[in-house]
Amino acid sequence: MCGIVGYLGPRDASPVLLEGLRRLEYRGYDSAGISVITEEGDLRTVKKPGKISVLEEALNGNRPMGNCGIAHTRWATHGGPTEVNAHPHFSADGDIAVVHNGIIENADELREDLQELGYEFRSETDTEVIIHLIDEAFKGNQALENAVAAALLQVEGAYGIAVISTRDPGKIVAARNGSPLLLGIGKDGEYLVGSDAAALVTRTRDVVYLDDGDVAVLNGEGHWTFHLERGAVDRPIHRVTWDLGAIEKEGFEHFMLKEIFEQPSSLRDVLRGRLLADEGVSKLGGITISDLELLRIKRIIITACGTSWHSALLGEYMIEELARVPVEVEYASEFRYKSPLVDETTLVIAISQSGETADTLAALREAKRRGAPTMGIVNAVGSTIARETDFGVYLHAGPEIGVASTKAFTSQVVALALFGLYLGRRRGLSLEAGHRIVRALSALPNQVERILEKDGDIRALAEKYVDCRNFLYLGRGYQFPVALEGALKLKEVSYIHAEGYPAAEMKHGPIALIDDDMPVVALAPTDPIYAKVLSNIEEVRARQGRVIAVVTEGNTDIAEKVDHVISVPVSLPLTQAVLTTIPLQLLAYHMAVLRGCDVDQPRNLAKSVTVE
Ligand code: AGP
Repeated sequence: MCGIVGYLGPRDASPVLLEGLRRLEYRGYDSAGISVITEEGDLRTVKKPGKISVLEEALNGNRPMGNCGIAHTRWATHGGPTEVNAHPHFSADGDIAVVHNGIIENADELREDLQELGYEFRSETDTEVIIHLIDEAFKGNQALENAVAAALLQVEGAYGIAVISTRDPGKIVAARNGSPLLLGIGKDGEYLVGSDAAALVTRTRDVVYLDDGDVAVLNGEGHWTFHLERGAVDRPIHRVTWDLGAIEKEGFEHFMLKEIFEQPSSLRDVLRGRLLADEGVSKLGGITISDLELLRIKRIIITACGTSWHSALLGEYMIEELARVPVEVEYASEFRYKSPLVDETTLVIAISQSGETADTLAALREAKRRGAPTMGIVNAVGSTIARETDFGVYLHAGPEIGVASTKAFTSQVVALALFGLYLGRRRGLSLEAGHRIVRALSALPNQVERILEKDGDIRALAEKYVDCRNFLYLGRGYQFPVALEGALKLKEVSYIHAEGYPAAEMKHGPIALIDDDMPVVALAPTDPIYAKVLSNIEEVRARQGRVIAVVTEGNTDIAEKVDHVISVPVSLPLTQAVLTTIPLQLLAYHMAVLRGCDVDQPRNLAKSVTVE
């Protein structure tokens, strides 16, 4: 998604702005630009379609010199990735500049009104209405923030913006409604604005998360915030603990591979302090709902998108097994428009790595509007979904930079298992079962380490299948969501078409696809339904299908029945999904690298989809 950086302080702004944009590259973008108020008092804007390197090339030798500026990386939503559509946008007189994340839903009406007032539009973007609204409101010698506030009160939709103007120099005005934005509070009069902490950590780790409706003002003396409806507000300063190194690749070729190999530690982090071995239960400090209120919950709905929706499916299976509470899983984009049957006895869980996915946030707000208690399972601390749910569980997985989610997924699955255990032990799950689950969860990080040692074998396997154009992933029970996730990983990073199916569904259609060109990945760990999966494998082989089987260590009779075997340590069916997912992540990664794909920033994808 789009990235915002703003800087005001004693330094030359351009290098700081470009450094911040570099830290946001992972979000996916197709144009970039900066605006700086120069030492001569002019406002200069340089913006280019393409990568940040194109912008840097354009700045070579004629960089605007000044200590106050804003910058942006754009992921096109309204209008293509062209120079005129790139941000910052600036007013007719060129003395106000704005950068914007989000979508203005009443842009068309506002554009008509402004055109009637004589404003001319250069771009196809919805953002441009903001700059002209500010210009129209900015009369006399009023403060910039008042003009911005007057403009934003006319706007419907999601925005995160930063604004500068030569009419009120030495100041950045920032505002958010539905699109994340935070302030960086540096030392010696240095202030920043960013759409996420990655843009700020090189300068400061002290940040202020803005809430919807907030307008913040940064000037040489300090910063203050007011709410469009409630007036002055005081937002706390948070300390961001992620070191920049955590955001760099640390020797791996891609962020995605780094994050796959981080999973032993990210799983340790999501489990840290949350397993009470003797009591056979989990301890979740973020579940602030009382046991009595929890017992009032009659059903659970889990809502998410993409990979998070796959972990939600696993959550359904786990919570129903452990707590015997009915669980339904809903695509967030569907849930929000289906007049969902939700009330105060329905717990709605929103799962989101970024905590900013627009559809998931909208689904959460719809659930709250209908009176449901809400819970978040989120990675990004302080993100909107995290702050808008009643309570929740943080993943503590650290920043996930690769667009394809890997460590966040396995941490989501474990967080859901922890919640299922938490709920189950309060609703009749036995101590003995609790002990079994605690043991299985505790073993996962080391077991994942053992699977990662097979990376070379999986790369060799990828070389055998790199030219295939289609794949089928099959699994039953807990392995069905794993099949879906494996298919999504492959298609989103290697651009090979792949589908996940419940293994038994093969005979209801997909088996017509099977031939030598349609390899099948079968998730077949030793569990109560292994024999059924084996018969599905034999159906595939009988039609000349090639099979890659992911099985449990010690399964020696499968080898003669399939083309390739990847074995993983044994675990409970409930936790086995964490282990069978790892080889699929590596397979997708290596296929993508062998095919020369942009693994960390696959075409058309963004890390956080903050638009509908
Ligand atoms: C994951 O590999 C995908 N990039 C995508 O499906 C992602 O899971 C989805 O957009 C949801 O993102 P979130 O978890 O940040 O809400």
